[in-house]
Amino acid sequence: MQEHLHFAAFDMMPRSDRDTLVELLQDWTYASARMTQGLEVSATGAVGGSPEAPPDDSGEALGLPAAALTVTFGFGPTLFENEDGDRYGIRERRPPKLERLPPFLGEDLDPAQSGGDLCVQVCADDPQVAVHAIRNLSRIAFGRAKLRWSQLGFGKTSRTTTDQHTPRNLFGFKDGTANILADDREALREHVWVADDDEPAWLAGGSYLVARKIAMLIETWDRVRLSEQEQIFGRDKGEGAPLSGGTEETAPKLSALDEHSHVRLAHPDANGGTRILRRGFNYVGGNNALGRMDAGLFFLAYQRDPEQFVSLQRRLSTDLLNEYIRHVGTGIWAIPAGVDEGSYIGAALF
Ligand code: HEM
Repeated sequence: MQEHLHFAAFDMMPRSDRDTLVELLQDWTYASARMTQGLEVSATGAVGGSPEAPPDDSGEALGLPAAALTVTFGFGPTLFENEDGDRYGIRERRPPKLERLPPFLGEDLDPAQSGGDLCVQVCADDPQVAVHAIRNLSRIAFGRAKLRWSQLGFGKTSRTTTDQHTPRNLFGFKDGTANILADDREALREHVWVADDDEPAWLAGGSYLVARKIAMLIETWDRVRLSEQEQIFGRDKGEGAPLSGGTEETAPKLSALDEHSHVRLAHPDANGGTRILRRGFNYVGGNNALGRMDAGLFFLAYQRDPEQFVSLQRRLSTDLLNEYIRHVGTGIWAIPAGVDEGSYIGAALF
């Protein structure tokens, strides 16, 4: 997992049709395949084209390496349900589980930071490379789709391989200790990837992404005493060990944790075995007029079935953490499987 995120949600333009959508996905695939190799978006790129025309590539990544760039695309519920008929001819192929998320207690959602027909999650180890990718994909979309909202993130909040140290979120706690790791193929198969015999067939090998922009009330949290902070999560702040004892990797003894601690409520044993792949990032967007930080967690979770997130989030309705956080943005997208040479993202849908 890389260090930086630029996430963007797009809406298709009003008069776009099936060909527009397919061509956009083809153009995005071509440009993304080049950028993940550290190349410019096209062969003429930033400086090789006509001096009389704006360059194909905006140029700020010239000379930079690929920086482990990955580009992940998703299809939102609204792509399948446009008002003026079945504009893209895909209504019948909508994944039955791709529904807008139900309302949850205590959320304060801003429509301007929620939803979107398409999403593009760009991750890279260099923020300039990540921003370059979204900027150029947005240029390529001109006249076909437009940026609806976007979010920068840094300092991954989840560990996804055994050799990574566990990073910390903006409350200062290790985050990602009990995550699904990339080498745990069995858990990925069971909890993250849509299987060949799941519905619909075109999504096999893909997943569902839930994004939640979660504001963290930093100043309030910073006035909470250490022992209470630890009780809220159910883990200690230094080592990240469960309060029931042991080290970071020791399994928590749930009955020894506060009944409403985050870990006790979110743990698979309290949720019929439900697990998700957390892949979030911290964000800071400056501060408000009172001098409070506009900061939080850009929570990204991958799952085989959206119900995994929904049931966990419902379970967290009595979380002690809720006093210190506010969900302000939301979105769900079906993520098609990766693409083979010569094909394009989401080809199986069409
Ligand atoms: C665990 C922080 C929101 C699901 C944890 C841990 C921390 C943490 C520090 C313990 C370390 C670890 O195992 O990763 C936060 C913060 C949040 C947040 C600061 C909001 C700002 C959520 C949400 C969900 C969630 C919205 C899902 C709906 C989980 C799960 C675990 C976990 C499944 C692992 C529990 C276990 O198996 O022990 N979180 N979390 N978290 N969190 Fe969150």
